[in-house]
Amino acid sequence: MLETILDRALQQLHRGETTSTVHQFCRQLSELRLRSDDQYWNEVARPFCARHEINQILLQDPHTARAREKPRGYAGDAVMLDHHYFRTPPPDISDIGRRIFEGTTSTVGAEGVRWRLQYLAQEIDRLAAGGREPRILSLACGHLREAGMSAALRAGRIAKIYAVDQDAESLAVVRQDYGSLAVEIIHRPMRDILNRALPLPALDLAYAAGLYDYLPEPVAQTLTACLFDRLAPGGKLIVPNFLADNMVRGYMELFMDWNLIVRSPAQIEALDAAVDAAQIAQRRYHQDPFGTVGYLELVKRG
Ligand SMILES: C[S@@+](CC[C@H](N)C(=O)[O-])C[C@H]1O[C@@H](n2cnc3c(N)ncnc32)[C@H](O)[C@@H]1O
Repeated sequence: MLETILDRALQQLHRGETTSTVHQFCRQLSELRLRSDDQYWNEVARPFCARHEINQILLQDPHTARAREKPRGYAGDAVMLDHHYFRTPPPDISDIGRRIFEGTTSTVGAEGVRWRLQYLAQEIDRLAAGGREPRILSLACGHLREAGMSAALRAGRIAKIYAVDQDAESLAVVRQDYGSLAVEIIHRPMRDILNRALPLPALDLAYAAGLYDYLPEPVAQTLTACLFDRLAPGGKLIVPNFLADNMVRGYMELFMDWNLIVRSPAQIEALDAAVDAAQIAQRRYHQDPFGTVGYLELVKRG
């Protein structure tokens, strides 16, 4: 089955049917992932894919290659996220590399990541439309691209976005692109939130996009409780996580070595297990229309 999927995709790539092939390939591999146990996936599927001829062709895609190379030590760095947001390939790549890039940055996975960014920017603007100037925490902010999409931030209607990340290179981009706006750049690890070592004012909105997908459940639950504690009365916490049945997972794991901690809706909803339930005024689960990311949202009692 796996061999057939890879052989057929290779033939289609040679025929030039790139974008549709990449999308179909991602879906087929993800469906196979859902039917496979971990032993088959890790001991049979991964080495088989690494040896197959298609592997070298897919590495001509700078998006796939960067995930594999991990220049910042992990696959999902802020440069990878910019591939999704802007879909601009680096210069000097092969024709097939450019065409595969068009495919890998337009999958349902990429659509879900773009949806997440737009959603966060809309939440920021919606909050600012409420009258007061909100204080917002973007933990693991990467390049803080939601800042570029928020009309309220540009209009001076946000008190502050606290942009926290452990990656100095990413924060240098935030400073360059958004440093003139109401953004405070904080070069600190998540650990300082967990230890309560990072002083912040009470927050109207807090979120960590692209972080929970790397956190085992106990850390994720503790982080949710720590972030919730930082909210002002009526403040909102948004917890996004990639879904277990997302249709890009198979490709990410087999060809990008990008292994997220994916969760079912019930597992995402359980991320508030360490929050004081008496303090929760509203609780909502929803997901994007691509079936890629699920969201738990908690509003603190006013
Ligand atoms: C997938 S990117 C997401 C960036 C951005 N939030 C977005 O959605 O585009 C993950 C970010 O998490 C940051 N990160 C990972 N572990 C972290 C930690 N322990 N403390 C602070 N930042 C962390 C990385 O440096 C990276 O910028």
